[in-house]
Amino acid sequence: MEKIPFTFGLWTVGWPARDPFGDATRPALDPVETVHRLAELGATGVTFHDDDLIPFGSDDAERERHIERFRAALGETGLIVPMATTNLFTHPVFKDGGFTSNRRDVRRYALRKVLRNIDLAASLGAKTYVLWGGREGAESDSAKDVRAALDRYKEGLDLLTSYVIEKGYDIRFAIEPKPNEPRGDILLPTIGHALGFINELEHSERVGLNPEVGHEQMAGLNFMHGIAQALWHGKLFHIDLNGQRGIKYDQDLVFGHGDLLNAFFLVDLLEFGGPEGGRAYEGPRHFDYKPARTEDVAGVWASAAANMRMYTLLRERAEAYRADPEVQAALANARVAELSETTLGAGETVADLLADKTAFEDFDVDAAGAEGANFVQLTQLAIEHLLGARK
Ligand code: GCO
Ligand code: MN
Ligand code: MN
Repeated sequence: MEKIPFTFGLWTVGWPARDPFGDATRPALDPVETVHRLAELGATGVTFHDDDLIPFGSDDAERERHIERFRAALGETGLIVPMATTNLFTHPVFKDGGFTSNRRDVRRYALRKVLRNIDLAASLGAKTYVLWGGREGAESDSAKDVRAALDRYKEGLDLLTSYVIEKGYDIRFAIEPKPNEPRGDILLPTIGHALGFINELEHSERVGLNPEVGHEQMAGLNFMHGIAQALWHGKLFHIDLNGQRGIKYDQDLVFGHGDLLNAFFLVDLLEFGGPEGGRAYEGPRHFDYKPARTEDVAGVWASAAANMRMYTLLRERAEAYRADPEVQAALANARVAELSETTLGAGETVADLLADKTAFEDFDVDAAGAEGANFVQLTQLAIEHLLGARK
């Protein structure tokens, strides 16, 4: 099997585990060490926020030094940078957001910060630029004119897309939805909201999604369904894999350590849901998780490896599931493939449908209503494969 393109953010393994209630439990990691460790563990790429690599407030000379060390580590390991993003949430200046702050001067500053990091991302070969608007939102409904905020969000995106086109950068943007945290309510809270917004943009072809497992699950939504819809729209530009257990704070657990069954069907979709049973998504399998605050540095690297192991195991299990003759029979029993047949025949018109007595007058609704759909056995077989009860 071909190598899976696994990538990690510098901020994931590098999280020193400071939370709203307690101090850091681990030392900060040097990005250069992270690059080497990730390469040893078998990852193929690394991603970053500007401030993960270049501490906020660095002068130009320091900035160059940080970039050069990082570039050298990439050269030594062969790791690539497929994606980069901007920190528009840590500094107090962003307390009311970046692109949608009520303050115009903050919005102008935010755009400058993004533009500067896009130039760096392009020079490192990144093809995707993520926009996670964690501070774009509100706690007080009267504090934020949501329609004006969406105008400003669009203005920002239109400016950024025009910029990369003008510069000739091979970069697309990926919006990362999240319903809440750190703001009480974040703008573009789900995949669906973001898809609707993207339609209104000037260069919408340059803008897609970076959905995160836990963020949709925080809203009680089915992540695999969300990814399927993003794929249907041609908008799955990137993906953040992690784990979440239900509707609560953003847990950023190891991939698969939350809703395992949904993770199984997600991997099945990504790996085998494409044309002729191939990949439905070709981009990086990016882990955006936080090593638990209880773990030490050795535990950080063990948890990084666990993400890749989970994905690889789920791919093996999904492959076995698809190959199992009983599963194939169960899929046929559940008429899954029949949904791919068009509802009207080729060339059939509304008039033809209206004239077709078998479609209505003679259709035995009671018999069709009484027939079992045979869906539950599919879940049972999937769980049996997951548990290793079937090979
Ligand atoms: C979260 C988010 C962030 C973003 C990242 C990219 O957990 O709330 O996933 O981690 O993905 O900051 O900007
Ligand atoms: Mn998250
Ligand atoms: Mn994320």
